[in-house]
Amino acid sequence: MNATPAPFTPPDAAEALAGLNMPLAEAMRSQRAIRKLHFEPVDEGLLREVLSLALKAPTSSNSQDWAFVVVNDAEQKRRLVRDYQRAFKLFGWFARRAAPDEPTRRQLRVSDWQREHYHQMPTLVVACYRRTLQHRPVGRPLLRVTSFYGSVYPAVQNLLLACRAVGLGASLQTLPLWLVRSTRRVLELPPEMVPVCIIPIGWARGRYGPTQRPPIEEVVHIDRFGHQPWRSARH
Ligand SMILES: Cc1cc2nc3c(=O)[nH]c(=O)nc-3n(C[C@H](O)[C@H](O)[C@H](O)COP(=O)(O)O)c2cc1C
Repeated sequence: MNATPAPFTPPDAAEALAGLNMPLAEAMRSQRAIRKLHFEPVDEGLLREVLSLALKAPTSSNSQDWAFVVVNDAEQKRRLVRDYQRAFKLFGWFARRAAPDEPTRRQLRVSDWQREHYHQMPTLVVACYRRTLQHRPVGRPLLRVTSFYGSVYPAVQNLLLACRAVGLGASLQTLPLWLVRSTRRVLELPPEMVPVCIIPIGWARGRYGPTQRPPIEEVVHIDRFGHQPWRSARH
């Protein structure tokens, strides 16, 4: 006979906040995408704290032209991700069939689980940036205004690290915002405000742990591309 799983009790917010004393390197080494989240809401004070740490990040020319739309309302969450859930239901099935190995299939199953339950994630944070002429990339013609993305991601990484430290599960995602017009409509964004990515936040069902990345010898080049003395020292 299957035992009914015990209901999840969120950790005490004050205890969770103490996690911010975690050594920075430990947080960086173990901050990975957590997609399976408990549905219980997250304490508002805790959310405010991780968001306030996110805002310590740098922006181009210190413009700080950002907005973070924190979506807790059930109906707003449903409307925000409805098209994504529908469109990618089929995609997930095909992707799993085409997956080359079991680890990839496992990751796709987790992504599928998240897509199916996306509207039940406790909090969806949509990071946005104001598109202005100020934020053009260096060396590009005046009218190319694409550099604003670079002013959002440092804050998003801060947010992910702060979530990791307090024990909240989180991940950076862009696919659920693939229909930008519908995101704009649901969130009532002004025309110049561009939704960049979405970060579902909640108590982690999975665990944080070491991330898999290539060794630095493989990706670091000294003085010019292709000169990799660290690599040869290792082999
Ligand atoms: C720009 C960007 C977009 C991403 N978009 C998605 C997404 O749409 N859906 C998703 O599940 N993960 C998304 N991710 C998360 C990555 O898949 C994840 O960070 C990567 O696979 C490494 O996983 P790990 O941090 O758990 O090791 C995105 C990450 C980045 C940096």
